[in-house]
Amino acid sequence: MADLVADADVLRKLVTEDDLREFRKPTLEALNFPPHFFTSPEIFELEVKEVFMREWLCVGRLENVPNSGDFLTREIAGESVIVVRDGDGEIRAHVNYCRHRGSQLVEGCGNTKSFRCPYHGWMYGLDGKLRAAPEFRQTVDFKKEDFPLHSLGVELWQGFILVNFDKDAQPFAPQVSDMEKWGMSLYGMGGQVTTHQWEFEINCNWKAYLENYHEEYHLPWVHGETFQVFTPMKGWTFFEGLTDQPWQVGVGQFPGICIGDTGEPEFPYNPDLLTKVPIEYQGMPIWLAFPLFGALNSLDATVWFAFFPDSAEKTRFVMGLMVDKEIAERYFDGDPDVVPKVEMYARNSEGFISEDNGIAETQHKGLRTRVGGAGRFCEHELGAWMFHEWLIDRVYAPALGYGEINGHGKANGDAKLAPNGASSSE
Ligand code: FES
Ligand SMILES: [Fe+2]
Repeated sequence: MADLVADADVLRKLVTEDDLREFRKPTLEALNFPPHFFTSPEIFELEVKEVFMREWLCVGRLENVPNSGDFLTREIAGESVIVVRDGDGEIRAHVNYCRHRGSQLVEGCGNTKSFRCPYHGWMYGLDGKLRAAPEFRQTVDFKKEDFPLHSLGVELWQGFILVNFDKDAQPFAPQVSDMEKWGMSLYGMGGQVTTHQWEFEINCNWKAYLENYHEEYHLPWVHGETFQVFTPMKGWTFFEGLTDQPWQVGVGQFPGICIGDTGEPEFPYNPDLLTKVPIEYQGMPIWLAFPLFGALNSLDATVWFAFFPDSAEKTRFVMGLMVDKEIAERYFDGDPDVVPKVEMYARNSEGFISEDNGIAETQHKGLRTRVGGAGRFCEHELGAWMFHEWLIDRVYAPALGYGEINGHGKANGDAKLAPNGASSSE
């Protein structure tokens, strides 16, 4: 069994094997996670250790650090990470703490030739190597090469920058290779550029916030005037059994749907999206690569998301709008044919996210109850159920020594909405 951060007996009371067996049933038979799963600091610490310290985390886009020396910082579960483009143009990521006595090195973003610690002046190159340690000549057996910054694994995928605290982690791309089944690469995210980026701090648990992105059940209630108009709840499909890899996709099945006011594309798009993508995946796919990264693709634009849990009850959320590079350049040049359309996409993206952010905080206030028990899923919450299954298999069951739960094998690969194709009651 894994070496647990909290007392194992405490965690086993919070997450019992019997509970996991109830959660790990087919969607329409399962219980969902009870309130304390979203508020317990002990469960959050377990997730930090078993999820955030081991999985690939999206920290931004290549266009966030276009030039040598450009850097940004990201905070996740109490860790601060520096992402920087070095002098050779390579992207690197370092933990933002000085190897002398631990001070943070930088805040925010900017451009620099090196990182100099504000406390006693140790200076590190962009590659993380310690270059200068003032007044250390007398220190016995001190070698600068023994004290580089702690660097993280970095992988670039479709223009996104992913980092991993676990040096032994398997590469990200092969873990999501099945995304080609719905034509992901035809959307050309690697050739898109972010024109707008937002950052929100939300008083809610990261799991509850992600679930919102993977169930269409809330559309009529939360997005009645916005998303629901173009993509009504019953027009969405999540694809059970599409993959056993750690991601999932749902599609709003309205070919030609886009994030503008009319639902029609404003910019040129790849015509293969309407001919080479299997018909069931045409429309507006929203996908989530577990645990903290995803996007909503439309014909001519992408809204991407990265989630940064701070604590059990606080989550930072970064969202970007991106369009094809040439359109983005015209936008930044102030082209009057492009600016109002991109601004419209940005306005609409911000509009539906503010609705999600609001309901996430309202939900979290309810989840603070001490009396609540688990609820149930309906047929429009398959994506949220799949996410729970992944957490059970990947984190809770192995970390607490419960082994395989209900003999289901991998979560995504054998997803079943109901044992006999039953449908929900109205
Ligand atoms: S803590 Fe950084 S130089 Fe002392
Ligand atoms: Fe939503």
